[in-house]
Amino acid sequence: MRCAPWIDRLAAHAGRVIDRSLLQLIFEDAGRAERMCLRVGPIHASFARQRVDASAWQALIDMAHVAGLPAAFRALVDGAKVNGTEQRAALHTALRSDVGRGPVAAAARAQALAVLPQADGLAAQLAASDVIDVINVGIGGSDLGPRFVVDALREHSDGRFRVHFLSNVDAHAAQHLLRSLEPRRTAVILVSKTFSTQETLINGGILRAWLGDDSRLFAVSANVDRAMAFGLPPKQILPMWDWVGGRYSLWSAVGFSARLALGASRFAELLAGAAEMDEHVVNAPIEASLPIWHALTAVWNRNAMGLATHAILPYDDRLARLPAFLQQLVMESLGKSVHNDGSAVDGATAPVIWGAPGTDSQHSFFQALHQGTDSVPADFIGVVRPDHAYPLSHATLLANLLAQSEAFANGAEHADPHRRYPGSRPNTLFLLDALTPHSLGALLAMYEHSVYAQSVLWGINAFDQWGVELGKKIAGDLLPALTGSADVADPITRQLLAEIRARR
Ligand code: F6P
Repeated sequence: MRCAPWIDRLAAHAGRVIDRSLLQLIFEDAGRAERMCLRVGPIHASFARQRVDASAWQALIDMAHVAGLPAAFRALVDGAKVNGTEQRAALHTALRSDVGRGPVAAAARAQALAVLPQADGLAAQLAASDVIDVINVGIGGSDLGPRFVVDALREHSDGRFRVHFLSNVDAHAAQHLLRSLEPRRTAVILVSKTFSTQETLINGGILRAWLGDDSRLFAVSANVDRAMAFGLPPKQILPMWDWVGGRYSLWSAVGFSARLALGASRFAELLAGAAEMDEHVVNAPIEASLPIWHALTAVWNRNAMGLATHAILPYDDRLARLPAFLQQLVMESLGKSVHNDGSAVDGATAPVIWGAPGTDSQHSFFQALHQGTDSVPADFIGVVRPDHAYPLSHATLLANLLAQSEAFANGAEHADPHRRYPGSRPNTLFLLDALTPHSLGALLAMYEHSVYAQSVLWGINAFDQWGVELGKKIAGDLLPALTGSADVADPITRQLLAEIRARR
């Protein structure tokens, strides 16, 4: 589907809605709070502070029907080649649930389940050894998901291993990390779907030399041949497959470090939470589908309201890495300017995703969110039951969460323009009953499915990332100029290189 007719139709609704403040929309619409919220398992979500009236909302729901979102989700989970430019399926759902039907999904599910005994075996082997520290070496999707989960679920760790992450090719990171670790008590997992990522291979080389031998060096990759060519025996390699996108791969062996941190049963709960969201998105009608509602509001804010960025504001310190995880998920998936057929898109696609936890962010960038010239839509995420015994702290955290969502939406009048709050800042508020492996799995799957729904509405491919290749190629071409004396063609780069050469 092309979005152009929809952008025009939404623009007509936006023209009407924009004349009303969000406060008016809320107070003129009895029952809005109850009508515009959904619960799926451990997640309650309120969309009542999105800047839509009933008729705009109906137009969005109609758009989802015309775009064929239920059929698109069926195609996704059944293993259709939804990644057209690479002629691949995107079967991350097969890593955690049985929603897929037909031979392609069944084969993927069987492959996913077959790896579990090998992962159990490696985990048991490490648990029985002297290893206490585990380093996950990977970048992008081979880092952000496991790193976020380990951090978010630290209260649920069984404490057997301390898990560390090394991603950047900047060796200050490796140097800093290795300073506090002992090689013979450390295992290293090289995580790379392609096993060709420069950063991971260079860091892998540093760690391999530091370990002294390969007995505690493991790999996770869809390119088992390349991992073997690196010198690892098959029993030290956990496979993944081309049908899992990197940024959707947490649920595969890419999550092995998170599995080591949490223990197998809690990692299984994470998968079960995601599976609950998979079941929901394929079975719930559009009118009650949490990921689809989230996608519709994203498209509304981007295309009808013209809002260029989107803030992720977790009111739980353990979710501090969620904005970074979602930056890759949303911006690598949806940062596209052409439709699936190669024609130019007619409207805006991915917003810039950014954010930081509350309440810290209230004391840094919230001034601009409240009174700056740009309206920034936001996702607030709070947790009802904490895992600590400081009730005043938690009540204060939740009071701030509720207050900021209300203040952004409602604003406040004041005779002094400096003290006036324009309001009408749209936001969605998620409440997790508690932060558990299950609820976190459901939340992340919700975002994955929202991203896919947005890609279908925009007619773009959510599963390729050609945009990252050019910089990689130029860096590869430039390396000889940095390691030796090769010349370069670009005049600006040549001047900068001369400056580097003169000063080092
Ligand atoms: O450069 C972008 C990217 O390809 C991401 O899509 C991916 O998650 C990351 O690099 C790491 O790739 P790999 O797992 O193949 O090392």
